[in-house]
Amino acid sequence: MTPWAARLSGDIGRVGRSYTPHPGHSRASDALASAASGRRPGRRGQRTRNRAWHHERMTDQEARYDRIAEGYATWWAPVHRPSTLGLLELLELESDHGPVRMVDVGCGTGAFAAAVVRRWPDVEVDGTDVSAGMVAVAERERAALPESDRSRFRLHQAPADRLPFRDASHDIATSSFVLQLVPNRFRALREMHRVLRPGGRIAITGWVEGGPAFAADEAYDAALEAAGLEARPSGGGHSDFRSPAHTEAVLRRAGFSAPRATPAELAHQFTPESYLAFIASFDDEDLFTSLEPAQRAVLEADVLRRLRKLSPAAMRMVLPVVYATATRR
Ligand SMILES: C[S@@+](CC[C@H](N)C(=O)[O-])C[C@H]1O[C@@H](n2cnc3c(N)ncnc32)[C@H](O)[C@@H]1O
Repeated sequence: MTPWAARLSGDIGRVGRSYTPHPGHSRASDALASAASGRRPGRRGQRTRNRAWHHERMTDQEARYDRIAEGYATWWAPVHRPSTLGLLELLELESDHGPVRMVDVGCGTGAFAAAVVRRWPDVEVDGTDVSAGMVAVAERERAALPESDRSRFRLHQAPADRLPFRDASHDIATSSFVLQLVPNRFRALREMHRVLRPGGRIAITGWVEGGPAFAADEAYDAALEAAGLEARPSGGGHSDFRSPAHTEAVLRRAGFSAPRATPAELAHQFTPESYLAFIASFDDEDLFTSLEPAQRAVLEADVLRRLRKLSPAAMRMVLPVVYATATRR
């Protein structure tokens, strides 16, 4: 245990706009940007083998999140925010020996990092994200903080596997709902390992394969098929964790010791209107953007008609997630 007690519970249940562009990555084409949302797969309850991490469509999150940053922030981030903020309960960041330095990899809207600096006055957070669009959204979150909190929250545009920090520069590394999106999860975790000091801690949360079919997804796919459009691929293709035990093995493989992973659930009550907005603005945004206005209006009306036949219980989405912590040796 460190003297300043920056640790994570074992019982899991730009000050100064330092936007740091990362070198050597280019904007990928929109054509590759369609498939991978931040949502876990599992439509129709089917499972497919995870797509290989080096699949070209998995390397395009920067372009996708640049394009959908606002739709994501409005329609999807609030859905998983309770689970993201659940990670706070794993952190014990009180310090009696000066500032604790934390990095939040794939910080998205910045809501988690903002909550950390609000709760712990001795913590400095570096939020990193590959997408300039998401960094801009996070900058709004940062700007809304009081100066004393804002000055401890820095933002950097950087991919998870090339963090702009020195070796052993941080005490805590966190990441929520990001590791299923990165081109190479092992490399991203090794990079978090590199920037952590020996004895530093990692805390992550992410999707787990499985979970019940969601009736709203089925209704939407049926509307696509009725319109003569291809339904979304079953099983998605993200690299979700397979189980808590698998999450622990992933962390061990990346060199972390004493991993502890615990299952949990994310539940969200959609309305027909909020589900349609989520689909059109985030999850299947590229399809909706490509439709002629009249075709789009017909599809939206049919989706709403189908969703309005579902009971409120059927509009409740429940997805398995995992929380995990481990130590950098
Ligand atoms: C589903 S969001 C989660 C955001 C935030 N961690 C939260 O829980 O609210 C995924 C985020 O990961 C970012 N991202 C995707 N691929 C990334 C990569 N290779 N490196 C860093 N960030 C990445 C996206 O831009 C997006 O902001």
